[in-house]
Amino acid sequence: MESSADDTLSSPTLALQNLKIGGDQKETIALSDPNVLLQVARDCKAKDGDPVDEDASSLDDQERKRLAQYLRDHVPIFSELEDLRQKGWKNPAGDEYFKKQRFHTDHANHDTSLNFLRMMQLAADKLQRATNIFTLVPTDARRPPTVLGFGFAPGGFLQKILLENVHVLIWGITLPESLGGIPVLISDFPCPQHQSPFHRGGGSTGFVAHPIRLQVIAADITMMAADLGMLPDEIPASHPDAIAHNFLLRRQLPPLQRFDLVTCEAGVLRPHHAVHAGAHREHGEHIRLRAAQLALAVARVKPGGSMIVLMHKAESSDSVRMLWLFSQFCRVRLFKPDGPHHYKSSFYMVATDVQSQSEPALKAVKRWVAEWKMATFGSVDKCLDKMKKEAIGVEELLQVFGHEWVRLGNEVWETQLQGLRMKSFTKNANRGGHSGLDRGRGESNKDEEEGGVSAAQ
Ligand SMILES: C[S@@+](CC[C@H](N)C(=O)[O-])C[C@H]1O[C@@H](n2cnc3c(N)ncnc32)[C@H](O)[C@@H]1O
Repeated sequence: MESSADDTLSSPTLALQNLKIGGDQKETIALSDPNVLLQVARDCKAKDGDPVDEDASSLDDQERKRLAQYLRDHVPIFSELEDLRQKGWKNPAGDEYFKKQRFHTDHANHDTSLNFLRMMQLAADKLQRATNIFTLVPTDARRPPTVLGFGFAPGGFLQKILLENVHVLIWGITLPESLGGIPVLISDFPCPQHQSPFHRGGGSTGFVAHPIRLQVIAADITMMAADLGMLPDEIPASHPDAIAHNFLLRRQLPPLQRFDLVTCEAGVLRPHHAVHAGAHREHGEHIRLRAAQLALAVARVKPGGSMIVLMHKAESSDSVRMLWLFSQFCRVRLFKPDGPHHYKSSFYMVATDVQSQSEPALKAVKRWVAEWKMATFGSVDKCLDKMKKEAIGVEELLQVFGHEWVRLGNEVWETQLQGLRMKSFTKNANRGGHSGLDRGRGESNKDEEEGGVSAAQ
């Protein structure tokens, strides 16, 4: 199944994470410095340029073929997985199926959103059973653990965190409904042991129980200019989002706050993109969102903390490079819950012991900020070119990380394969047709297209 959807709109993309760590970068960033991103952003000079077709970001065919061959050679089930996708691709019933799905998600009503919440709650339960990631262990005995959630609505994951942790402080950022975002369907139900704002709860923990455990920040992550280190006078006044006052010129997050867990799940939403983002955002939105989200996440996670990142297509060059990158400063594992949608390619990267102050992490943050800046104020085309040039080559990547990639991805491919085997559109293939599965480069990914609300199901 094709590409990503964070990216319900977009074609497969060159990875943001195509970073060659350990190159000639001299600067390192002190994340303990609240102004670090300010400095980073100043360092990255925006360039003018034209928008680019998303095709320009598509994987190089040769690279794609080489990666697929590697997986065929090393993952016994991979050929069957490819085969079923091919069948789905050739079956017009697949097109119909995904068309309906897209319609429902683009025209979501309260019931559809509630269903999505239930789906996310189930996914959270499964993720918790498999990894225990939502049980937070405070790093500071005097303070409750902290969580930052990007793209958190409807709120299944954050609700699970609230249930699992009596004492926790959560900052949840998500696209406002007025901009086409998914509604927040959880509320800040009070801490069970909480009686008054100054109640000292938690028995032996001695934490001060907070009256509000979940702070909702309704914001477009791609507009969080101040948090990404930009000063108001650095933003070109003629930029359409500057004219429309869309950039967030005040920090949305407390400058010194670091988080025990950061979740990254925001993906480009068709309704948001189509209606609210202007023509200047037609291309490269997935780059801006991904880069902004990852930069803020890694910059803000405590050293030794954890991250959950929604990803797509474990077999893509984007994914393998991203996994390789994170594996340089985290312990990485992948998780794909089974369930009604597990035929899709989405999955979660669960990163623990994130060494957010290590050199690879600091460089990655710097690179993501640069990409966000270039894709926002400069040229998406040039940004993609630069990313491609800086990416580690496939042969080197396979040499240093191929084995680990296979080990990590096995469970994801296995789960997806089981899901696909149950789908009727992978059975009755009609060669004349052209379904939405596994299209070639540059074509949109229907298996992930659920109005951007795809989750790793
Ligand atoms: C897959 S859903 C997250 C589901 C969530 N994990 C849960 O447990 O309920 C993705 C979310 O990202 C949000 N989103 C998409 N684009 C965004 C943006 N530019 N800024 C902030 N949030 C965004 C969507 O509105 C949606 O709420």
